[in-house]
Amino acid sequence: MSSLKIAVVGLGYVGLPLAVALARKFEVIGFDIDQRRIAELKQGHDRTGEVEQAPLRSSTAHLTAKPEDMSPAKVFIVTVPTPVTQDNKPDLGAVLSACRSVGKVMGKGSIVVFESTVYPGVTEDICGPELEHASGLVCGRDFFLGYSPERINPGDREHTVDRITKVVAGQTPDVARQLCDIYGAITTGGTFMAASIKAAEASKVIENAQRDINIAFINEVTMIFSKLGLSIHDVLEASATKWNFLKFQPGLVGGHCIGVDPFYLAQCAIDNGHHPDVILAGRKINDSMGRFVAEQINAQLRPGSKVLVLGLTFKEDVPDLRNSKVIDVIAGLRDLGHAVDVHDPLADPEEARHEYGIALMPSLEGASGYHALIGAVAHDAYANFGPDSFLRLLEEDALVADIKGMWRKRDLPDGLRRWML
Ligand SMILES: NC(=O)c1ccc[n+]([C@@H]2O[C@H](COP(=O)([O-])OP(=O)(O)OC[C@H]3O[C@@H](n4cnc5c(N)ncnc54)[C@H](O)[C@@H]3O)[C@@H](O)[C@H]2O)c1
Repeated sequence: MSSLKIAVVGLGYVGLPLAVALARKFEVIGFDIDQRRIAELKQGHDRTGEVEQAPLRSSTAHLTAKPEDMSPAKVFIVTVPTPVTQDNKPDLGAVLSACRSVGKVMGKGSIVVFESTVYPGVTEDICGPELEHASGLVCGRDFFLGYSPERINPGDREHTVDRITKVVAGQTPDVARQLCDIYGAITTGGTFMAASIKAAEASKVIENAQRDINIAFINEVTMIFSKLGLSIHDVLEASATKWNFLKFQPGLVGGHCIGVDPFYLAQCAIDNGHHPDVILAGRKINDSMGRFVAEQINAQLRPGSKVLVLGLTFKEDVPDLRNSKVIDVIAGLRDLGHAVDVHDPLADPEEARHEYGIALMPSLEGASGYHALIGAVAHDAYANFGPDSFLRLLEEDALVADIKGMWRKRDLPDGLRRWML
């Protein structure tokens, strides 16, 4: 166990698994401004589902909501949210606030590393000066900056923080080497020293923008093929037999990474005098997908149908409701005159009400009489639906709308109709 003291600032989907992993090798202080989150974590409960109770309880990380508790740390790793504003502009409020908290407690020789996804330049041109201002220290002389993008994928048990290759960059070669040693101690995936902090920032934001654009292309051809009466899944199955065809699936692009980060890159482009046509076109297509799906399903329904939507979170088997695009399908169907109920066993009912004004059904027990069932999120519980579940919930001649294609290979009970992208 090294005596190096590391503070992790922001204990969410990214920060908590990182703090727990680092605490196996270093002395770790985990700080979050959310007192309720700290209290829950101290009870061994991680509502994000990323860290299980036993490793959380046995972790030596000192969890706190008091910023002054971070003062013994030499290395600070910032993992706070980087959302967009209502008009899709980068919102650096949490990052700047974290800089102020760190700046007030850090001493000479500190290293401040950012893991939050940003555009190139945020660490050195925005966070550096904010840290100088809060600390009274000089960046590059009294303290140093680093950047290491986070690649974890919520709900993914394979590509975890202790297995993925970690891209690392430091303000000086010595800082970069120190950071490689720290991250190298916790991942079996090794580290990659990026050419500069800006290159590391840029590498992360294009990883997510690239996914967004590729999915947007598949969503656009889905829209074209629906006019021809062709299922995209049938087309993709054939195309995928070519060795260099890229295997992306159509669907709703929600969450706080793929649907958000391209706007960071777009703003950076605009600020530097380039209009990002492809990036913004991808965002526009993907953001229109919920309404497109609602209209396609509506075309299969009688007016005023009773509809049950299965799943509200932004992806399968995670409780994360942020920026879920299922809400666009629900709102679209409601606007078109249908009565929509929503079920999701993983989502927090209070958050669903607060974020989206949706009253989640407490369970599917006793639910019946629906004219349509919409598989919106492929939670295991839904993907494993048997014939009885469909028959119990649905009327004769009802529609099974399978947005995710999760029942595609499944025979449906007689008397039910099927819709897919
Ligand atoms: N979730 C992912 O899978 C993922 C993957 C890669 C990168 N990222 C990026 O990592 C960053 C964090 O994302 P996340 O999903 O962990 O967010 P999150 O919302 O789950 O967690 C952020 C935590 O930071 C806390 N926080 C907010 N402001 C703070 C402050 N000023 N000081 C201390 N704590 C503060 C919040 O209370 C919250 O607990 C974002 O930039 C995101 O884009 C996320």
